[in-house]
Amino acid sequence: MVFDIKPHEREIFMLIEQAGAELDFPTYVVGGYVRDRLLGRPSKDMDIVCIGNGIKLAQQIASKLRPIPRIVVYQRFGTAMLKHKDMEIEFVGARKESYRVDSRKPTVEEGTLEDDQNRRDFTINALAVSLNAQNFGEIIDPFGGLHHLEHKVLKTPLEPGKTFSDDPLRMMRAIRFSTQLGFAIDEETYKAIAKYKNRINIVSKERITTELEKILKADIPSVGFKLLHKTGLLELVFPELAELHGVDYKNGKGHKDNFYHTLEVVDNLSKKTRNIWLRWAALLHDIAKPPTKRFDPEHGWTFHGHEALGAAMVPRIFRNLRLPMDGKMKYVQKLVRLHLRPISLTKENITDSAVRRLLFEAGDDIDDLMKLCEADITSKNPQKVKRYLENYELVRTKLKEVEEKDKIRNWQPPVSGELIMKTFNIPPSREVGNIKTAIREAILDGKISNDFDAAYAYMLEVAKSYGLHEVNP
Ligand code: CTP
Repeated sequence: MVFDIKPHEREIFMLIEQAGAELDFPTYVVGGYVRDRLLGRPSKDMDIVCIGNGIKLAQQIASKLRPIPRIVVYQRFGTAMLKHKDMEIEFVGARKESYRVDSRKPTVEEGTLEDDQNRRDFTINALAVSLNAQNFGEIIDPFGGLHHLEHKVLKTPLEPGKTFSDDPLRMMRAIRFSTQLGFAIDEETYKAIAKYKNRINIVSKERITTELEKILKADIPSVGFKLLHKTGLLELVFPELAELHGVDYKNGKGHKDNFYHTLEVVDNLSKKTRNIWLRWAALLHDIAKPPTKRFDPEHGWTFHGHEALGAAMVPRIFRNLRLPMDGKMKYVQKLVRLHLRPISLTKENITDSAVRRLLFEAGDDIDDLMKLCEADITSKNPQKVKRYLENYELVRTKLKEVEEKDKIRNWQPPVSGELIMKTFNIPPSREVGNIKTAIREAILDGKISNDFDAAYAYMLEVAKSYGLHEVNP
């Protein structure tokens, strides 16, 4: 079969052909680029394999382009990369040994195209397109990759145990591709994942997390997490999430399975947002249910405090997964901590003060919090779903009203610490903090309005109780 070369590809393909011919290096486009193009998915990363030296090939091509592009050379791996238009093109010589340059077996030997294709993870990733004059554009498909693309199947080119031993991350890649592309995993390949799952322990956390994130970014992330669970990989790579699985019974009463509930929440939310950190918050919102689970003969199963303990668990989970320990982690932590607050607002008569407090704590993340809460409704009873959604609609209306009135969302103290120190001629001290907190609490409780004059007057009043008097009015 011949690859349908698009006009924007023709120029660069011809150039590669020409440079390859000059050096006598047969050249091929391989891997993900070919797969994605055949699937009609956009792709900006192109891998070129040559029978020869990839760095020399890249230099030869660069010398023909105007302006001459900069080449990034990875001498240790024998690869070179250049940017052309909006494409990143990587060049490498065909290899015989383990494909991954950063795998535990760094020794790589030169090989034929067939050797190189043998060393790849799945048949759909082992397709090559010839860029050589005698068969320009022909698809070279030694393992039935085209058939598997058509039938949406992921299968290793060699015996799966061999392919997975070469690089155990491929077990996670199988599950990730299955989730991203909606492909089934071939039975033998699937069985091998379950069999060799423990090999994942030799793979770096960073590479594992990259795959977890790609699963979480997919349209229906639950597909991947269910496969991770079924193959036994989940408890190795993300034990806290695996812990959510299962139902306990006591006195004939069971609770819901928090693993499947969590995945439903993630799927619901994924229909509304591509924000990966909001998706992480959904994945982690009930993470502390297992350690807070109790059975109370009167009330049945309870998970008191799971939101607070869950928030406390977030930093450790992020650190273990090598996720960023910055504002993103804080954002996820905040949403986990607050995820029950909007529900509690629907249960009582909503007071302005409770709404103000939520606005103050959530700040600009209030809309994301509401999205998470709405996604958290997984009841199968349509009447209940309708009622819960209506309740949240009321909360949203109330949030809007109070925000318009009181402007609490990005609250800044109307009276600063400096002003307090200056007014009473005192140094930085506990009193300054106490006065500031008292003003904030009075505003949140609605005792005073959120403006300078009210706050200033209140400051004078509070300061009196500390025996402080205005010296610099
Ligand atoms: N590959 C492999 N084993 C791996 C990683 C990659 O065999 N563990 C091969 C596959 O042939 C793959 C190619 O290297 O197609 C390029 O890898 P990479 O860029 O990581 O993945 P893509 O397949 O391009 O897909 P994505 O960009 O979605 O990760």
